[in-house]
Amino acid sequence: MAGNWKMYKTPAETIAFFEKFRPLAGQAAHCEVVICPPFTNLAAAVEAVKGTRIQIGAQNIAWAKEGAFTGEISGPMIRAAGATHAIVGHSERRQYFSETDETVLKRTQAALEFGLAPIVCVGERLEEREAGKTEAVLAGQFEKGIAGLTPQQFAKIVIAYEPVWAIGTGKTATPEIAADAHRAIRGRVREKFGAAAADAVRILYGGSVKPDNTRTLMAQPEIDGVLVGGASLDPVSFASIVNF
Ligand code: 13P
Repeated sequence: MAGNWKMYKTPAETIAFFEKFRPLAGQAAHCEVVICPPFTNLAAAVEAVKGTRIQIGAQNIAWAKEGAFTGEISGPMIRAAGATHAIVGHSERRQYFSETDETVLKRTQAALEFGLAPIVCVGERLEEREAGKTEAVLAGQFEKGIAGLTPQQFAKIVIAYEPVWAIGTGKTATPEIAADAHRAIRGRVREKFGAAAADAVRILYGGSVKPDNTRTLMAQPEIDGVLVGGASLDPVSFASIVNF
């Protein structure tokens, strides 16, 4: 159960969040809990979750170890801050910051090289869904962004299916729509990496996940977890999602 805070909260607000969240979900043992705050809050978040089962992730990661890449943050820097995960290829990065499947693959490889678990995002836009292209879009993102990993690398990633039309819109995919997309992604995994890899890979659903729709989403065997934006900003909401 992962939370993506996007560009919200200061370090002080991060500490205040965890003071409320820790007693509600800090020892949750039925799942992994990962929160991805902005880079500037990673250290405060890591400090705030000490002694709990909560893990901290970044929202992006550079493909290089270091170098002249103004504005980028590298895997070793994220690791040194104490984080364990990195979101890669979020649709907002693809839409506003020219992220491509090719850079998604490079960032994913960098996360793995530096010991971080990548949460790799895929998902179709509304016009692509309406044109009946959802499966083709997901297949393309998989082929160019994920299929280039080795089987050993693939075993360490988490995939997040986030239909762009469901993000921040209040329009959640129905559990059936989400499960269909997850099945399509898992089908590609099976073709490329085999049945055992397809069974083992965790595919999260993201897009307007709220406390009141988590249970029906999670009732789909295809849905292994959720990646939550807006509702992860509030400790009570996110705790009730984690403890669905
Ligand atoms: P919302 O939950 O705010 O729709 O955001 C989803 C998302 O983009 C998570 O990465």
